[in-house]
Amino acid sequence: MTDTNAMLQARYGDPQSLLNGPQNAIIDALLAHRSVRQYADKPLPEGLLDTLMAAAQSASTSSNLQVWSVVAVQDDARKARLSALAGGQAHVAKAPLLLLFLADLSRLRRIGEAQQAATPGLDYLESFVLGIVDAALAAQNTVVALESLGLGSCYIGAMRNKPEEVAAELNLPPECFVVFGLTIGYPDPARETEIRPRLKPQAILHREQYDVAAIGEEAAVAEYDAAMHRFQDSQGMRSIDWSRQVVGRVGSPEALMGRHRLREVLNKLGFKLI
Ligand SMILES: Cc1cc2nc3c(=O)[nH]c(=O)nc-3n(C[C@H](O)[C@H](O)[C@H](O)COP(=O)(O)O)c2cc1C
Repeated sequence: MTDTNAMLQARYGDPQSLLNGPQNAIIDALLAHRSVRQYADKPLPEGLLDTLMAAAQSASTSSNLQVWSVVAVQDDARKARLSALAGGQAHVAKAPLLLLFLADLSRLRRIGEAQQAATPGLDYLESFVLGIVDAALAAQNTVVALESLGLGSCYIGAMRNKPEEVAAELNLPPECFVVFGLTIGYPDPARETEIRPRLKPQAILHREQYDVAAIGEEAAVAEYDAAMHRFQDSQGMRSIDWSRQVVGRVGSPEALMGRHRLREVLNKLGFKLI
């Protein structure tokens, strides 16, 4: 069994999984991904931010508009305040580096103003979506780059729990929104995390047209529930059906932990979203 297949088996929680297609070192690195929430007390490499920015900015960006920005936070007091705003997640305060990825329409607005040109295209929901997409692509390049350096990270969607307070903490101008945070540090070797299983690709991949019956979705979800139970038991986690957990996550507006107000908050942050 190759390492690739070992990782694939962990990824799908199935000892029978084998990769039938091409493989290489980059694919192995992608398969090895896991979120890291416990960090070693070890300084980050010199110039890390330069490397991560080059990787992030090498991602594609819609029409080369580059409607995203990032705020790097290393100040302990600011990280602690942001941790409190993100539901008290300890790893936000403890990670040596916290990146906040922004959907940022303000730069294009300023460039337009400098040219005394109207920029009504920025008022549309489409422009906001571009900012979200650009920020996500840049962030994932960052994750791949940092993992290749032996670092670990965890996305922090909870930065959207209290977007106005987070925007104030970072002194964001209007039309600037934290899409998510990313905690970064060396993984604590004493508390290593494992590859977390996913749904089988059959449940995700449709061929030619979307066809739920053809992919056998119900069976795939049941199989995944069983795989997640095995994973949870092996990790000493609370044992719960994934399918029940995710339905609970969308079972009420309150379950969105403040994010059900997002449209209203975005308007307050200056996004018109027409
Ligand atoms: C956009 C986004 C937001 C996330 N927000 C959080 C978060 O606030 N806190 C956290 O501990 N993990 C967060 N995660 C990590 C996910 O829980 C994790 O990626 C998922 O459980 C799969 O685990 P893995 O990354 O180890 O494969 C987030 C992931 C993404 C992509």
